[in-house]
Amino acid sequence: MEPKTIKRIGVLTSGGDAPGMNAAIRATVRAGFYYNLEMYGIYRGYEGMIGNEIKKLETKHIYHVLERGGTFLKSARSEEFKTAEGRKKAYENLTKHGIDALVIIGGDGSLTGAHLFYNEYGIPSIGIPGTIDNDLAGTDLTIGFDTACNTAIQAIDKIRDTATSHDRLFFVEVMGRDAGFIAINAGIGSAAAATLIPEKKMPIERLVERLKARTAQMKQSNIVIVAEGGKSGGAVEIADKIKKQLPYYDIKVTILGHLQRGGAPSALDRVLASKLGVAAVEGLIQGKYDVMAGIINNKIVYTPIAKAIVGHKDVDEDDFRVAKILST
Ligand code: F6P
Repeated sequence: MEPKTIKRIGVLTSGGDAPGMNAAIRATVRAGFYYNLEMYGIYRGYEGMIGNEIKKLETKHIYHVLERGGTFLKSARSEEFKTAEGRKKAYENLTKHGIDALVIIGGDGSLTGAHLFYNEYGIPSIGIPGTIDNDLAGTDLTIGFDTACNTAIQAIDKIRDTATSHDRLFFVEVMGRDAGFIAINAGIGSAAAATLIPEKKMPIERLVERLKARTAQMKQSNIVIVAEGGKSGGAVEIADKIKKQLPYYDIKVTILGHLQRGGAPSALDRVLASKLGVAAVEGLIQGKYDVMAGIINNKIVYTPIAKAIVGHKDVDEDDFRVAKILST
């Protein structure tokens, strides 16, 4: 598409926050300044676009944010933006500020909103994948995923210490409503006895057999990782079922929850976010609209948002196989 002249870019973070979002905002803003553009922060995601929470950003706003978790622009899941009236209000506010392009940092819900908005109002826009879930097609990694895996694995290491001291069986629930990426990586990276993910159903009987076999092998501790959206239920539900079948086990459940969304971003997430922030601004300048900037095989790739969200990425069959081999 023939590039439009862009003068003012609005940047926002939307949906569940992810470590590295601040680094992505900072890179977007710095790149904008580099190309002599004016940069605007849209606070609280699409909610703030509708409520006109929009401020011009200066260099002082992005000092020392790269290394911080969360998002200084704040985030929200907006129901109103799903309505035509909500999007109309949002458009009117952008027009008031003369914002003529958008960078949207978020997961599949946020990018779905961006796609809809672009089709209705045609404002040049580009997405940056920011979600701990890693479930977007068009990029090898999403911002926040690596940090979330590190957080989960560090927490599981601690659980392992106490599990071993007491010969206990722990069910640890990690985040991932529809995607098992954190679970499978945490499982491989912490020597889990089994990993239950939303993409694959593991019958309880099979889990029982695996745990029985491990008892026979005198394994000192057992940790089962359960993705919150697991097909057989959450960690509490599965622990209850197992307790009925293996009453001799001393069973505990830990839900890691939102601690996986916080904390300073890892080196990998900082670098990924920084590269994608620059790529987003350069993409807009080059006339790449309604796309998501991602990294595949260490190269920047722009994928139509429609493809990135429709092609929901599932855990690789091979990763699942590796986890299985290493847990028997
Ligand atoms: O999409 C990221 C994510 O952390 C999911 O893994 C999780 O299911 C969901 O967000 C939780 O969302 P909320 O913080 O709105 O409860």
